[in-house]
Amino acid sequence: MLWKSLALALLMQHGSTQNMNIPPMMRFQCSQLVVERVDPLVNPGLVPSPHLHQIVGGNSFNASMDHQTHDLPSSSTCTSCTFSEDFSNYWTAVLYFRARNGTFKRVPQSTELQLKGNAGITVYYIPSTDNKTAVTAFKPGFRMLVGDAGLRSQGPDRKVCHRCKPVDGDGSNINCGAPDAQTFPKGFCAGGIRSVITFPTCWDGKNLDSPDHQSHVAYAKGSKANDVGPTGVCPESHPVPIPQVMYEVVWDTRPFNDPNLWPEDGSQPFVYSTGDQNGFSQHGDYVFGWKDDSLQRAMNARCTGDVCDVLKTQTTEEAMKCTVPKVVDEDIEGWLTELPGNPVLF
Ligand SMILES: *[C@@H]1O[C@H](CO)[C@@H](O)[C@H](O)[C@H]1NC(C)=O
Ligand SMILES: *[C@@H]1O[C@H](CO)[C@@H](O)[C@H](O)[C@H]1NC(C)=O
Ligand SMILES: *[C@@H]1O[C@H](CO)[C@@H](O)[C@H](O)[C@H]1NC(C)=O
Repeated sequence: MLWKSLALALLMQHGSTQNMNIPPMMRFQCSQLVVERVDPLVNPGLVPSPHLHQIVGGNSFNASMDHQTHDLPSSSTCTSCTFSEDFSNYWTAVLYFRARNGTFKRVPQSTELQLKGNAGITVYYIPSTDNKTAVTAFKPGFRMLVGDAGLRSQGPDRKVCHRCKPVDGDGSNINCGAPDAQTFPKGFCAGGIRSVITFPTCWDGKNLDSPDHQSHVAYAKGSKANDVGPTGVCPESHPVPIPQVMYEVVWDTRPFNDPNLWPEDGSQPFVYSTGDQNGFSQHGDYVFGWKDDSLQRAMNARCTGDVCDVLKTQTTEEAMKCTVPKVVDEDIEGWLTELPGNPVLF
């Protein structure tokens, strides 16, 4: 019964494509931990970092977090995620609305279908879809990045996309299949805009990180932007199958769906905290921090949805209580005359 309703939820989530094989997938909410200009992966120790991020997960998050020494499970006392053994950190860029008078207002976030929490990020971990390939959970100190904050044109990175959400449900196509696009939707979106970020599923088996935070992982051969879960065979250079991590962020653009607020020429008014007015620069950062072998257990048990017998779970209320104080003292919520960090708009 429970599995059936979860499967139904996932179908609604991913559209009603008939012959689609929905793989087992953990899908859970991580509420907002902090929103600020810090980026321990790309700009370790730099406070403030160039652009604003929204961060969720364990409360040991800080600007430096050296991966050789910073142990997330033992340094954290709480997490903003549903599964209370998950002290990982997850972060993305933040969306702003640009008014006709040139000021910027942060776009509020909302929570995905059937999940609760104060916005933040919906996180997925998807084991292999063939029920045969065992995935190897990440090792302590592992981290990776998808997307490029500097990207301003159609990139090779086809696994970062946007969906214009309808009033109810979430449309009828698979994540990142047309009409989802790397760019922002052009018109009003009745249910807001969803940003999807899908991480690679193959690891080189050696390096916990790499200078670009990307080359130690790779997408499987033949994988496509709109795959549901990992497919294809890992390349020889990156032979180890790892769980597929995916983020979904819902920007609640509804308060701005007013023709009198949009630019007179009809162009869309949204801009990422990177200064990007088209949508190409969205990115997702991941720092692994599950306690002991908890993630491996959950993958082996092929847990689905946000209920998992082999994991400890906390209530939404407990998860929302886990926050960290801001270290950068700046207004990010008012009608701002410039974006935090004043990135070049283009
Ligand atoms: C971050 O946490 C580490 C402990 O892992 C601590 O040594 C360091 O001072 C903290 N850095 C900042 C910038 O707060
Ligand atoms: C700019 O426009 C926004 C949205 O219409 C409005 O709320 C804000 O007060 C305006 N700011 C100034 C300085 O006019
Ligand atoms: C994998 O296992 C699940 C549940 O045990 C099943 O529903 C699904 O059809 C299987 N998938 C494949 C490709 O065998």
